[in-house]
Amino acid sequence: MLKKASIILAPMLEITNLSVKSEDKLILSSVNLKVESGTVHALMGPNGSGKSTLAQTLAGSPAFTVTAGSIVFKGEDLLIKSPEQRANLGIFLSFQHPLEIPGLNVASFLRMIYNRRVGQNTLPVKFKPILEEKMTLAHMAPEFAQRYLNDGFSGGEKKRMEILQMLVLEPDLVILDEVDSGLDVDALKDIAKAVMYLKEKKPQTAILLITHYARILNLIKPDLVHIMQKGAITTSGDSSLVHTIETSGFNNGK
Ligand SMILES: Nc1ncnc2c1ncn2[C@@H]1O[C@H](COP(=O)(O)OP(=O)(O)O)[C@@H](O)[C@H]1O
Ligand SMILES: [Mg+2]
Repeated sequence: MLKKASIILAPMLEITNLSVKSEDKLILSSVNLKVESGTVHALMGPNGSGKSTLAQTLAGSPAFTVTAGSIVFKGEDLLIKSPEQRANLGIFLSFQHPLEIPGLNVASFLRMIYNRRVGQNTLPVKFKPILEEKMTLAHMAPEFAQRYLNDGFSGGEKKRMEILQMLVLEPDLVILDEVDSGLDVDALKDIAKAVMYLKEKKPQTAILLITHYARILNLIKPDLVHIMQKGAITTSGDSSLVHTIETSGFNNGK
């Protein structure tokens, strides 16, 4: 008689008892987080609580050292992978302060990272319509494609550039670190729209939204909200937690 196979689906990302230091300073201690594919997680918390450190550690930043714990992404041990390998596995982290690269134009840069992601060489003529579609979505004028990467971009334009990268790469895990800070309502709506577009196109995409503010979470509704304080996740709950924090602050967020 045939036995029914029982399939246990592991989460896309599983962080277990993660401790991280920079130089001699312990920044994260025993962080646990599971992110299932297709879900939106918000990570909130006061300044300096370790949110960006967690994001940078996921992306493989050499500024931080993991002293304990594990990170498993799509069944693979992430901690032994280089930042490039992590990106190729489908992890995307938006930068708070993206690099300016005079001499490299937006279209060439995006074609390069797209080719790396899809594992083949897409010629400029083939890439052009792909890029145009994404630029329309990110509300970026076509001239942008010919500008040098982030060179002379305003704060808002840099954020749109990060979102454009996300749209081109179609990552499995999108980590947006304070992508909403300093943006006006229209720019914020465009970012939310781009994220929702990606989610619709690739429903298995998981999103980790790091933010201080509830307003982006009204546009991109999180399935789960986590509060980080002093390097640890102290509270997790559903989206109602956002409003508790808005009214009572982080310390009363329980
Ligand atoms: N590269 C670094 N070297 C040393 N300390 C750091 C570094 N990056 C962050 N920190 C420290 O780690 C703590 C957490 O910072 P961070 O992760 O940026 O917090 P958040 O993103 O929640 O504001 C802060 O005390 C900060 O000063
Ligand atoms: Mg930060």
